[in-house]
Amino acid sequence: MKKEVLMAMAAGLLLSVSVCAQRLPSSDEMNHFVTTLMSRMTLDEKLGQLHQLPGGNIVTGSPQTSPVGKLAMEGKLGSVFNIKDVEQIVALQHLAVEKSRLGIPLLVAMDVIHGYETVFPVPLGLSCTWDMEAVERSAQIAAAEAAANGVAWTFSPMVDIALDSRWGRQAEGAGEDPYMGSQVAAAMVRGYQGNVMNGGKDGIMACVKHFALYGAAEAGLDYNTADMSRLRMYNQYFPPYKAAVEAGAGSIMSSFNIVDGVPATANKWLLTDVLRRQWGFCGMVVTDYASIGEMKNHGLGGLKESAAQALKAGTDMDMCANGFLSTLKQSLDEGTVTMADIDQACRRVLEAKYRLGLFQNPYKFGDVKTAKKLTYCKEHREAARRITAESFVLLKNANGVLPLKKQGTIALIGPLIDTHTDITGSWAVAQAPEKYKSLREGFAEALKGKAKLLCAQGCNLMDNAQTQRTVGKGHGNEPIPFVDADAALAEAISMAREADVVVCAMGECAWMNGEGTSRTDLELYAPQRRLLEAVAELGKPVVLLNFAGRATVLTWEAAHIPAIMNVWYGSECADALCDVLFGDVSPSGHLTVSMPRATGQEPLYYNRLPSGRYVQDGEADYKVFTGNYLDATSGALYPFGYGLTYSSFAYSDVRLSSSRMSADGTVTASVTLTNTGQREATEVVQLYIHDKVASISRPIKELKDFQRVTLKAGESREVKFTVTPDKLKFYNYELQYVLEPGEFDVMIGGNSRELKTATFRVE
Ligand code: BGC
Repeated sequence: MKKEVLMAMAAGLLLSVSVCAQRLPSSDEMNHFVTTLMSRMTLDEKLGQLHQLPGGNIVTGSPQTSPVGKLAMEGKLGSVFNIKDVEQIVALQHLAVEKSRLGIPLLVAMDVIHGYETVFPVPLGLSCTWDMEAVERSAQIAAAEAAANGVAWTFSPMVDIALDSRWGRQAEGAGEDPYMGSQVAAAMVRGYQGNVMNGGKDGIMACVKHFALYGAAEAGLDYNTADMSRLRMYNQYFPPYKAAVEAGAGSIMSSFNIVDGVPATANKWLLTDVLRRQWGFCGMVVTDYASIGEMKNHGLGGLKESAAQALKAGTDMDMCANGFLSTLKQSLDEGTVTMADIDQACRRVLEAKYRLGLFQNPYKFGDVKTAKKLTYCKEHREAARRITAESFVLLKNANGVLPLKKQGTIALIGPLIDTHTDITGSWAVAQAPEKYKSLREGFAEALKGKAKLLCAQGCNLMDNAQTQRTVGKGHGNEPIPFVDADAALAEAISMAREADVVVCAMGECAWMNGEGTSRTDLELYAPQRRLLEAVAELGKPVVLLNFAGRATVLTWEAAHIPAIMNVWYGSECADALCDVLFGDVSPSGHLTVSMPRATGQEPLYYNRLPSGRYVQDGEADYKVFTGNYLDATSGALYPFGYGLTYSSFAYSDVRLSSSRMSADGTVTASVTLTNTGQREATEVVQLYIHDKVASISRPIKELKDFQRVTLKAGESREVKFTVTPDKLKFYNYELQYVLEPGEFDVMIGGNSRELKTATFRVE
């Protein structure tokens, strides 16, 4: 760090910290520091701060001679991402700090999406825990490992509401519900950032993505256009982004898609009017991968025009497109951007670095010793094992097939039983597969000396060998072998014949969900279904472990397989599965997406607006002139909020503290919950609200609160919720956030379909 800058900083340190609207720290000291620094920067150096590149071949080459190393020394790089090598990162930082003219540190980023080396379930699975402490803890652990390994900034949380399960990136978010999405968004921001944005030492900067509406891509096709009313944006899609901003997120990533005719990358209404003016966001905005370059495909002009528009709209950093670095100078000469536009973006990037404490200590992130101690340490692994077990959603358990006994002969079959790379799910960029147990290894350890284990792949993931190989190679994963279908089936069936119980591990390999993995058919892939049918014919107890990163269609399975559990990956998945399958832990996950009966029902979600002719969920008979399908029973197969455990629960009627509430008052709603089964277990008690008459049509029900409650067999407890005005408010036609007086239903239960209802009035 150069002397004047250090002096300016030291002087500033004595000044008090003021607070921006978003609660990100901002101060006279910071302003003074950044102003001083910027007064010494050339235009090229300013543009350099707006430029971000992936680490590329640096990991195998030397930082000094790599393209990013050279740019860092020239002061033409603000940020670099996805390098997994603490020593390389530190070496690169040395180049930026010691060899560039002004010594501005790099902002080192990574897609730490659901863990670093200790990998948690994919975010959709994490949300299925309905345990915000667990979600926060997972982000905290991810941040601790990432920070020790040199990462200061994660491109997470993804908070896009995803109603359409054909969209593979449903895996990366918290599902279909705005309230759940907001809780998870805030918990993740808290977990990642800790106190780091206030100059503290714990945490890394979060990046809320993808702003906005990426999950509403038409037809569930990734990168496709999203188009919807503003009313719907504000009421249904915006809340998680807003919650993340309110939780103090230091950065936001714009999305690939078009919103209202304008790509989000250059959408001023989104990036400035909503984000900064309405929500008070004062952090930095980065584009998604090369999306300034992709604006050409959207028909908005070439790189120069797109870069200028993106900057003008409120973008601060250009990920990979090289549009800011290579064209903004010319745009400045031509008058399409101003120096003030460039300065503003540069200031925001420098502020982020300042808040993270990089100017005080550029080597704050990345310490070989701490990295060795923390990365995939016992404590982190234990937390991941516990949280992974919490995420599994038990969908069916006929005749108490589960839990299994560790005795006799158990067959474990399916294409996912031997993988080490795919066990973590998609977006496990920093995974260390050699350290993880495959399912076969986990089961063998759990059953050692107690039961005989027989294992076979049994089938391919899908019939298309080319696609299986291509998705299998996602992010350097080891593709699951494409085998001779008949021989594999015969081997598995002979093992299943010999077994007392058959566990089938099937579904999606890691990169069958995540980015660029849209599907038109959500049923189990054909070869897996064929194997399952053959197993089912044996008439033995069968458990289907459905590995997924989205809602899938299990209608056939629900009719033919006695036990089904949804599994959402994780480095500790094998052990966590044994904990649950063999009964050491009772399942407690509940769905955060509606599971359809048929793919054609998508987008399917529970909190729909009431249609004039809706048919009740579960109605199988077709009726003319009603909102049902000719060829499917209506509603979800497994509704939002659904999940079983090894015990059962009974709910009393809902009691209200009053049948009236004033507009600034509260009402308490309570139920008595009883564990009516034989084992201790955890229930997720859910509270939904319905505004019965309003100035616009309101959803038939909306989740507004929930609690995880653990009860011993036979135990009862009163579970109370406070209904506050905020739980009743919505954006009206004028986009004002209002509470309208009138009647409300309050509904409590263990899923969004089976609820007890009481009614009160707001006056
Ligand atoms: C994804 C982002 C990700 C970025 C950087 C993009 O393709 O859409 O979610 O953060 O790549 O890896």
